[in-house]
Amino acid sequence: MMKHIPLAGVMGNPIAQSKSPRLHKHWLRKYGLLGDYVPLHVTEDDFETVLHTLPKMGFVGVNVTLPHKVAAMQVADQVSDRATLIGAANTLTFKPDGSIYADNTDGYGFIANLKQNAPDWNPKAGPAAVLGAGGAARAIIVALVDAGVSEIYLANRTRPKADALRAEFGARIRVVDWVQAGNMLEDAATVINTTSLGMVGNAELRVPLDGLRAGTLVTDIVYSPLRTKLLEFADAAGCITVDGLGMLLHQGVPGFERWFGVRPEVDDDTRRVVLG
Ligand code: ATR
Repeated sequence: MMKHIPLAGVMGNPIAQSKSPRLHKHWLRKYGLLGDYVPLHVTEDDFETVLHTLPKMGFVGVNVTLPHKVAAMQVADQVSDRATLIGAANTLTFKPDGSIYADNTDGYGFIANLKQNAPDWNPKAGPAAVLGAGGAARAIIVALVDAGVSEIYLANRTRPKADALRAEFGARIRVVDWVQAGNMLEDAATVINTTSLGMVGNAELRVPLDGLRAGTLVTDIVYSPLRTKLLEFADAAGCITVDGLGMLLHQGVPGFERWFGVRPEVDDDTRRVVLG
């Protein structure tokens, strides 16, 4: 009997901008594996139907991105502790019995990126300052707590969203007013922009950065441009900076390994291929 070609993909709306197909196709080619990975444009109304159809078409799993990350968790038969804690899933695996397993690898990608590009980073060195309280912030806060960060300063334009995260994730979080966000940088050992500010086509991050100290680890989830104004300013201030592309690349690793059986490496070549 002919072996089925394992398929994977990424479901979202919009989806054309996703870099995941390029990433996974590169790894399939690099490791000489049979398989394919395709962008899947799916509306919210069709999400559940499509999800239940994919395993019947040879799909072994999918990544899910906006706006499906919460629905993915609700539709799954089994949800990892991490995805439950974060409240969203980005990596689904279809089991041979037809059931769907949902995981969230964003926090893993965040930490793996820092470990690779700032190997001396010590999460326990001091407080972390997080800008933003959206979906990305949830995954990053869970990852920071997991990594042993003792205190997290959290500032968001819409303060109630930061207060809600504190209520959910506990006393290690200290909410700071958005207008005071500059002040929390002074004694932070780690600074993370989880907002979309600074991304091509969006407004710039206007938080005053004069408080940044040399040696502080500064990272941005924005990777277009690769060197955001935040990272450029931090570099000039003697901080250690890590761009956001690595988080995207590393979050893809656990899914690829589960679907295609090889744990892929994130290296300079991977970065080049995905940047195009
Ligand atoms: P994601 O899932 O990628 O985190 P999101 O949930 O829409 O996306 O969150 C976007 C984050 O960027 C939020 O923290 C948002 O702040 P609000 O909660 O106040 O909306 C932040 N953000 C977006 N545009 C912003 C702006 N112009 N000024 C300040 N914060 C902004």
